[in-house]
Amino acid sequence: MTDFSKDNAPLLEVDRLSVDYSLKAVSARAIENVSFGLRAGEAVALVGESGSGKTTTAMAIAGLLSANALVSGGEVRYRGERLPIDDDAAMRPHRWSETSVVFQGAMNALNPVHRIIKQIAEPCRLKLRMSRGEATARARELLELVGIPADRGTAYPHELSGGMRQRVMIAMALACRPSIVIGDEPTTALDVITQAQILKLLGDLRSRLNLALILITHDLSVVAEACDRVMIMYSGRIVEDGTVGEIFAKPKHPYTKLLIDSIPNPAKGKRMIRPIPGDPPNLVSRPSGCAFHPRCPSAMAVCTTEVPSLDPLGCGRVACHLHQSLTQEDKIAAHA
Ligand SMILES: Nc1ncnc2c1ncn2[C@@H]1O[C@H](COP(=O)(O)OP(=O)(O)O)[C@@H](O)[C@H]1O
Ligand code: SF4
Ligand SMILES: [Mg+2]
Repeated sequence: MTDFSKDNAPLLEVDRLSVDYSLKAVSARAIENVSFGLRAGEAVALVGESGSGKTTTAMAIAGLLSANALVSGGEVRYRGERLPIDDDAAMRPHRWSETSVVFQGAMNALNPVHRIIKQIAEPCRLKLRMSRGEATARARELLELVGIPADRGTAYPHELSGGMRQRVMIAMALACRPSIVIGDEPTTALDVITQAQILKLLGDLRSRLNLALILITHDLSVVAEACDRVMIMYSGRIVEDGTVGEIFAKPKHPYTKLLIDSIPNPAKGKRMIRPIPGDPPNLVSRPSGCAFHPRCPSAMAVCTTEVPSLDPLGCGRVACHLHQSLTQEDKIAAHA
């Protein structure tokens, strides 16, 4: 049970968070009852196929939800205090200084007509109220911190490689000294070598600055090195949560098993990605019961009607009827 007293609170608590998007005439739930805690310096991965709700979770935590999003349930607490994540103006003092986000595709996020030093100095001036000189000095410091010589700060974004641009994005995310950095697919657009370098940089920064990291990815193979814990999302819910060791060695949820199976493993003769059969559900036509049941090799009758709750199991949590307290008769009947 999470201890909700202020002194004992984790850095971040996401407590039964649900977010809906309004889409023309209807409103649809993108994430449902998402709960987890994050401690200072901890690195957690949020993994799932496209559309599973990873970005929505991240944007809600950072107070960056889009205008058509509604926080329909739950809350987010930072150091024990409820964050006004659904109030743009009230969220302003918290944004970037407590939690910041490194987005995928740095080229789109950077302004092409400004030198990078100026873009890094900007949040220091605005949020930390530094003078122009102080902000430039801080930006030079941040560039060095992310492994870019400070003198390269005069470059424009298009003059840098993809990896360097992503380092600039990380420098910007660190500008206001946040204690949590969320990387939303921060390495997806990069080649494998640069990807490894950026993950190593995030890991180094994490230990140097005692940063807590939430690393979002659709690729389970990138998390093993960089994270302590993995949360698997499917159709807006967390379906499994465990340590990296447990998740890879003993996955409990059938979806997690298939995700791990999909990773190429040349040592075992698996050279290609093995996609999971079937498509993830879309927002407005989510299957009843366990949303994974149409694709699940272990589905039982109960899975089509009852949503499995996310219950503690071992050192983690899992949401699957295979692991819930069904009687033996129920299971036999369900398989029949
Ligand atoms: N601004 C938006 N308006 C309407 N639907 C959205 C919006 N953003 C995301 N969605 C939908 O919400 C679901 C979850 O999306 P997202 O959180 O981006 O997932 P992920 O990051 O795991 O790919 C998807 O079905 C997506 O199409
Ligand atoms: S609850 Fe049922 S359908 Fe869902 S993952 Fe478990 S066995 Fe498969
Ligand atoms: Mg996303």
